[in-house]
Amino acid sequence: MNSHQSWSQDHSSRYSSDAFVVGLSAVILILAAVILFPRVSRAEADAGHGKELFEKRCTGCHSLDQDKEGPRLRGVYGRKAGKVPGFTYSAPLQSSAITWDDASLDKWLTNTDSLIADNDMAFRVVNPDERADIIRYLKAVSLK
Ligand code: HEC
Repeated sequence: MNSHQSWSQDHSSRYSSDAFVVGLSAVILILAAVILFPRVSRAEADAGHGKELFEKRCTGCHSLDQDKEGPRLRGVYGRKAGKVPGFTYSAPLQSSAITWDDASLDKWLTNTDSLIADNDMAFRVVNPDERADIIRYLKAVSLK
C-alpha cells in the first residue's frame, strides 16, 4: 500500500461517514417536522379560521370586550351563562344553570332554543366544523 492509496482510502471513508451523519440528521429533522409541524399548523389554522368566522358571523351582535345586542364574549368559555355585569339577558338565559364549555357552546350554536327555550339570540351555525373552530377561538381568547 503506498501513501497515496492510504490517503485516498482514509479520505473516502471519512467523507462517507460525514455524509452519513448529515444524511441521518436530515432524516431526523424531516421526521421531527412531519411529526410536530402538522399539529402546530393545524391548531393555528383552526384558531385563525375560528377568528375569521367569529368576525364574519358573530360581531354583528357581539364583540370580545364590549356589549352590543349580545354580551361581550371574552372570558365566556368556562363561565356560567348570563354573568356579564350590566348586560340585560333574557330571563330564561339568566336563570339557566349552564356553564359554557365545548358541549354547551356546540349545542347553543347549533340551535340556541334546544339549550335554553325562549332566549334572545336568534342565530345558528349549521356547519359542525365551523362551530368547533369558533369554540376553539372563544376558548383561546378566554383562557389567555
Ligand atoms: C343576531 C344577533 C346575534 C348574533 C349574530 C350572535 N349572537 Fe350570541 N347572543 C345574542 C344575544 C341577544 C344574546 C343574549 C341572549 C339572551 O339573553 O337570551 C347572546 C348570547 C350569547 C352567548 C351567551 C353569553 C353569556 O354571557 O352567557 C354566547 C356564548 C353567544 N351569544 C355566542 C355567539 C357566537 C359564538 C356567535 C357567532 C357564531 C353569536 N353569538 C352570534 C345575539 C347574537
